[in-house]
Amino acid sequence: MTIVIDQLQFGIEVEEKRVLNNESESESEFNGGFIMPTANTFGQNFRDYEAESERQEGVENFYKINHINQTYDFVKKMREEYRKMDRVEMSIWECCELLNDVIDESDPDLDEPQIEHLLQTAEAIRKDFPNEDWLHLTALVHDLGKVLLLPIFGELPQWAVVGDTYPVGCAFDESIIHHEYFKENPDYQNPAYNTKYGVYRERCGLDNVMMSWGHDDYMYLVAKENKSTLPSAGLLIIRYHSFYALHRAGAYKHLMNEEDEENLKWVQIFNKYDLYSKSKVRIDVEKVKPYYLSLIEKYFPAKLRW
Ligand SMILES: [Fe+2]
Ligand SMILES: [Fe+2]
Repeated sequence: MTIVIDQLQFGIEVEEKRVLNNESESESEFNGGFIMPTANTFGQNFRDYEAESERQEGVENFYKINHINQTYDFVKKMREEYRKMDRVEMSIWECCELLNDVIDESDPDLDEPQIEHLLQTAEAIRKDFPNEDWLHLTALVHDLGKVLLLPIFGELPQWAVVGDTYPVGCAFDESIIHHEYFKENPDYQNPAYNTKYGVYRERCGLDNVMMSWGHDDYMYLVAKENKSTLPSAGLLIIRYHSFYALHRAGAYKHLMNEEDEENLKWVQIFNKYDLYSKSKVRIDVEKVKPYYLSLIEKYFPAKLRW
């Protein structure tokens, strides 16, 4: 299978945008030499939720429903339900193919099938970090939890699958996108959950913090329950790659332990590829498949329970 996308090769397209936008070197480059494109699929800045676009209203409405419904009790219930892993058995690659039908409504930058995004991210990061094979595989699997949108996985609504994530069980930080809608979340008024620490202790470690439910936490549970040998940095990337309040705004650092602090740099590196590889790219799936199959064999058992 070849995914054909109707534009230039990634590098060329990026180079052209750099010239057109006359960006300074320091703004357009970072760790590993990855060059940021300056506009998304729709010709707007990345993560520009204010942009005048037909999608804007949909995205805002998405966060309104998300923020009202992601409560501590809801997350607890979902974690208990989904960590049973009693729905289906399939390999990582089979899951990648399954995701082909899924489009993420919360994402203002992307309207293409997910498998393209997975391979764009993985191939971009592989180019800049050729020796970190765990990072390539992490990129490939980071969004597989979006299968939650499909009927065999319970067909969860978009607000319970995608979008930015944040801790529940303590105060919602003001840096979270569309923070104003939390006022209608029952936890917002609950004194057990609405203080800086809430149910947590200082430096308790992010692993002990309940995150709003979605594809990130689900894929993290899948990797853990199936005893993946990915390093802790890879697992951290999977669980926190949508946690923008932390890796963009620096909120909730008081809940991190030493290991989290060490791994955070990988989440930040990864995030740039996750975001900026969402461009028109051409990936020859059959050509790269054997490489990723070898990584799957190395870091995951043959069949996974989901
Ligand atoms: Fe994601
Ligand atoms: Fe992603």
